[in-house]
Amino acid sequence: MEFQTSLVTYGSVVWGETVRLRETVLRTPLGLAFSNDELARESAQLHLALYTGATLAGVVVLVPPPANDVRAWKLRQMAVAPAFRGKGGGAALVAAAEREMRARGAAQVMLHARETAVPFYARHGYRADDEAFEEVTIQHRRMWKELDAATCILP
Ligand SMILES: CC(C)(COP(=O)(O)OP(=O)(O)OC[C@H]1O[C@@H](n2cnc3c(N)ncnc32)[C@H](O)[C@@H]1OP(=O)(O)O)[C@@H](O)C(=O)NCCC(=O)NCCS
Repeated sequence: MEFQTSLVTYGSVVWGETVRLRETVLRTPLGLAFSNDELARESAQLHLALYTGATLAGVVVLVPPPANDVRAWKLRQMAVAPAFRGKGGGAALVAAAEREMRARGAAQVMLHARETAVPFYARHGYRADDEAFEEVTIQHRRMWKELDAATCILP
């Protein structure tokens, strides 16, 4: 299946569609919903949509680094619609996310992976902490990847 990715503008109609997809995949099954405060905090974050043709198939959100660690980005809210899973869309989103972060000077990316998604990220070069922790009622693991090392080409 052919996938394309594009950045979407916070607050736009398309952004609203990506929020609904994230809520359907990541919150509703847990009996949770986004609060207005939570969505307002996303105004400074990058929103990357995954498409197949004109159909929205997935989304991921990228959090710029804090002022004290200007090269450390965070990847969050990765969701592919059930009908499009297992077809390489998730891989396309991770690759596009890393491209966007690298282009903005990222050296390291960190994420909180649901236990079920740990093998997926591991296959993309992310390493996991030993300890799990609870977030939005389910077990997660902190995972990270050095983007500089991943792009290092030996002579
Ligand atoms: C995790 C998630 C984003 C992965 O998305 P995806 O589109 O299924 O990802 P991919 O298709 O790239 O890879 C998934 C699997 O399909 C396989 N695959 C990749 N390309 C494929 C292709 N062209 N044809 C068939 N299978 C393929 C991969 O080997 C991979 O197998 P694995 O799960 O055993 O590693 C998706 O399952 C999801 O949204 N899950 C629910 C929400 C969630 O857990 N999000 C992460 C929060 S931390």
